[in-house]
Parts: sequence; C-alpha cells; structure tokens
Amino acid sequence: MINAPKGTKDILPNESYKWQYIEKVARETAALFGVSEIRTPTFEHTEVFERGVGEGTDIVNKEMYTFLDKGGRSITLKPEGTAGVARAFTENGLNNSALPIKLFYLTSCFRYERPQAGRLREFHQFGTEILGSDKPDIDAETILFAKTFFDKLGIKGLSLRLNSIGCKDCRKNYEKALKEFLNKNADALCPLCRERMEKNPLRVLDCKNDECKKITSGAPVILDYICDDCAKHFEKVKKLLDLSGVEYTVDPKIVRGLDYYTRTVFEFVSDSIGAQGTVCGGGRYDGLIGELGGGDVPGIGFALGIERLLLLMQSTGTEIPCDKKADVYLAPMGEKEAEKAFELVMAMRRAGLKAETDHMGRGIKAQFKYADKIGARFVAVIGSYELDKGVVKVKNMADSTESTVAFCDLENYIKSVR
Ligand code: HAM
Repeated sequence: MINAPKGTKDILPNESYKWQYIEKVARETAALFGVSEIRTPTFEHTEVFERGVGEGTDIVNKEMYTFLDKGGRSITLKPEGTAGVARAFTENGLNNSALPIKLFYLTSCFRYERPQAGRLREFHQFGTEILGSDKPDIDAETILFAKTFFDKLGIKGLSLRLNSIGCKDCRKNYEKALKEFLNKNADALCPLCRERMEKNPLRVLDCKNDECKKITSGAPVILDYICDDCAKHFEKVKKLLDLSGVEYTVDPKIVRGLDYYTRTVFEFVSDSIGAQGTVCGGGRYDGLIGELGGGDVPGIGFALGIERLLLLMQSTGTEIPCDKKADVYLAPMGEKEAEKAFELVMAMRRAGLKAETDHMGRGIKAQFKYADKIGARFVAVIGSYELDKGVVKVKNMADSTESTVAFCDLENYIKSVR
C-alpha cells in the first residue's frame, strides 16, 4: 500500500461537506465586502517568495518546496498566498483598475514543517489582499471582513490581537535597539539567530527555540519605537474597530513571521486547539508590491488556515450543516420495477430533486437501511402491484407516514412535502 506523503491529508466525503460549507460562507462574506476571487498558480518562480516573504524568514530558509524544473528554473510551491497575488497584480497591470482592488483566494499552500495537529505540509488558506489604499479604514475593514466570516460561521472563542510594527523608518530605530539587546545575549542564542541578528534581527523574535524565546521575552517592543504618522494610523484603526464594537487586545509582541509587513499586524487566536492556536494572521504590507517591481502600491490582507478553523469548530462544538444526500429514494422490488425506478430517478433529477435508487441489487429491507444511511427524506417503493397501477408507495422517513402517489404526481408530491 502506498500512503499519502507525511503532512498531507485526504479530504473524504464525510469531511468534504464541511469544506464546501466553509468555502460557501467565505464566498458569501467576500461578496458582502465587495471582494472578488483571484486564482494564481500553485507554483511561482522562487524569487517571488524570496523577495516577497523575505530571505531571513523561516518560510524561505527552511520550509519551501523548491525544485529545478526540467528547464533548469528554480520553482517553488506557494507557501502562502500574498506574494503570488502581489506578483499577479503587478504583471497584469491591476494598478490601472479602480482602486482599491479587493481580492480573495481559497488555495492550497505548502510548507515543509514538522506535522502536528493544525500543522500540515499541504494546508489550505482562505485569504484576502486589498491593494491600493493606505488609509486606516481599509485596515479596520480587512479585520472586520475576517471577523464577519467567523461570526457567520458561529465561531466562538477567538480573540483578536493587534499591533503596529511601524514603517521602514521606525524599523531602523527599533532594529538598532533590538540589535543592542540581542548582542548582550548573543552567546545564548541559537546559531541561526546569531546570523539573523545581523541581517534581519526582527526574525529572531519568531524563533521557536526555547532558549531564544526566553531571551526575546525581555526584548524591547516595536510599538515603543513607531513614528508619529504610524502611531496616528494605529490610533485610527483602533478607533474604527471600537466604533464597530470589535473587541481586541493590543499585543506589542506580535511581529508576524514574514518580512513584508508594515504598520498594522493582527492575529485571531484560540486557546482551545493546542500549540497551533493562530487561526488567522495578517497585516499591512506597503512595500511588497514595490519589492516585486510594481511601484508604490500599499496593501493589506489576511489568511486563515482552514484545517485550524475546522479544529476550532470541532473543539467548540460549532455546528456545520450537512445537506441530505437525497430527497427521495426509489426502492424497486424486482428487475422490471428497477427499470421504472431508473426512469423516475432521472425525471426527479431533471425536476431539481435529489434522487437515488438501488445499484447493488439489495433486497427491500437493505434498501431502506441504505436510504436511511444516505439521509433520504422519502422512500418510494415500487413493487409489481405499484408498477401495474402506475403508483409508488411513499414513506416519510421522519414520521413513518405512508401515501400512495401516481408516477406522474411524484415530483409535485415530494416538492410539496419536503
Ligand atoms: P501565516 O501566518 O504564515 O500568514 O499563515 C496564515 C494562516 O495559515 C495561519 O494563521 C494558519 O492558520 C495557517 N497555516 C500556516 N502554516 C500552516 C501549516 N503548516 N499548517 C496548517 N495551517 C497553517 C500568511 O500566510 C500571510 N500570507 C497572511 C497574509 C495575507 N498577510 C497579508 N495578507
């Protein structure tokens, strides 16, 4: 037997309806917020992520699925959605469309991480990227987009954490202070962090090594170093969230693990799904499009992991509606009757009803069992007597009541009682 690669999962029919439901609510919420779908390729030139996500990040350093294709090009399976969308925005001249342009995606992502609950090597994101506006109300709207989606799903127990990591200028002052702090503790840092400390000190704050974490817990925080403009921007974001009645906590320790962020960053976090509690993460990235050669276009977005969302929904008992597989199940009692059932099933389907019949040669008792398993609301039995008279005996599976209905009335009957 060949197994699926480590860190990947089959989504079987007893799970796929949950995914479809989440995707449906995602699309509905996107429509409410005027956000259109974008689909970008599963793989990009490696450079898109090196320049976008950043060379000092864990994603680029350790987690990317990168390979040379047969033409010798370095290709990477997308580890996240933002950089590819930024590349597509630039390449397709979307800057010339009415701004801001609001995009969402539902996509597989790939990261070579150690698999555990809520952490896979192939996982799925629902994400958004809003490009073209640097106004703080777009930050608040993006956060509200995520919040509305969670509310529509009926999710409880997620808290919103918010921070500002300032602009390039604030970053310089902060990096200086952070470097001084790290230098004092350099001997205790892991070898990778000693390297990062020089090139990209902010990334030392994401290190998962326990010793590094202990040290950085006492590090200066970036919120104390942001300039007046960034502080004003952050105040306005908070004010708009207050006005919208959104609860949040300012968490000066949030810096996110990707290099492109500027100003507002945020996470929706749960403490009921174990170590991988960040269900959604996002923020502003005013320099990313420029980094990819697309000029000075600000942007903001978020992405949430669907696997983590499902874990959270399961652990909090959030209901996911499961559509019945059949409105009516036609149960024939012999071969002739089966031909009539086959004909009626197709007539029901043409009329927009979900209809099923026997394909296994089951006896009538076993057919009832099967009909129950697939959640059929009605079972219409055709025996030789019914075939003769041109009728079916319809049993309502919820209350066991029975009615005799003519073949030609079956569609209207099921529609009137379902
Ligand atoms: P991220 O924080 O790297 O941000 O990932 C976003 C979400 O994807 C996480 O909160 C988590 O739910 C899920 N996720 C990440 N890695 C895994 C994994 N290995 N297994 C399962 N789920 C995972 C980004 O990807 C940014 N592109 C978000 C963004 C969009 N920022 C601005 N726009």
